[in-house]
Amino acid sequence: MSVLEIRDLHVSIDTDQGTKEILRGVDLTIRSGETHAIMGPNGSGKSTLAYTIAGHPRYTVDSGSITLDGEDVLEMSVDERARAGLFLAMQYPVEIPGVTVTNFLRTAKTAVDGEAPAIRSWIKDVNASMAKLRMDKSFAERNVNEGFSGGEKKRHEILQLELLKPHFAVLDETDSGLDVDALKIVSEGVNRAKENTDLGVLLITHYTRILRYIKPDHVHVFVAGKVAEEGGPELADRLEDEGYDRYLSAATDA
Ligand SMILES: Nc1ncnc2c1ncn2[C@@H]1O[C@H](COP(=O)(O)OP(=O)(O)O)[C@@H](O)[C@H]1O
Ligand SMILES: [Mg+2]
Repeated sequence: MSVLEIRDLHVSIDTDQGTKEILRGVDLTIRSGETHAIMGPNGSGKSTLAYTIAGHPRYTVDSGSITLDGEDVLEMSVDERARAGLFLAMQYPVEIPGVTVTNFLRTAKTAVDGEAPAIRSWIKDVNASMAKLRMDKSFAERNVNEGFSGGEKKRHEILQLELLKPHFAVLDETDSGLDVDALKIVSEGVNRAKENTDLGVLLITHYTRILRYIKPDHVHVFVAGKVAEEGGPELADRLEDEGYDRYLSAATDA
């Protein structure tokens, strides 16, 4: 049983116009096996939270803490975070020219586990996961994200999730740009990871659609860089009906 704890997190970035504060006091606690949906309007800081957990150098933590089973995550390098069991599926996965999916996955697995996977069982695992995600075998020989469709990029993120077996996964808008069939396939992959490894999930999404397939235990509404409201799955249903207007006018009034 693991716990990822975020306490009063304040994060800013440097822009041409000076320093911009984006996260303004985020509190979140996620335990193994739990799925937390982070929902909120565009620009509310959801991706900033995801990148900060993963350790992207662009984001400066001004105050607050992130701990994993009491260990200070903010003191860890990006690699150390991955080895500690943190995983980020990016909203906009990046191209890695000259690196095939096969090589990328094997290198990542070796880095995360601290030793190379046994070749025969590894190939079996990769093929099985690709088949379940309805990915053609030829996919393995393509360069990472180069010319991938939106759906292929997201499947590749979930393929990594299934193979790397992290303790906590941050999934940043994994539903964006997916048609219903791809959404189901990707969601099934996340649900398999949940069942097989007691994964804790931070599911970032603008829309409630994916929550029909991946059931959240907790829903947090993110507005202007912090959690504005929390509840159970019923909160997502209400957002489906009402949208974010209520929170946005409250944030402007404040
Ligand atoms: N690299 C960046 N440069 C400039 N502004 C940024 C950068 N990253 C985020 N922001 C700004 O921070 C705010 C939050 O962005 P983001 O975390 O991407 O929100 P969300 O994922 O909820 O849409 C936005 O106003 C966005 O313009
Ligand atoms: Mg985002």
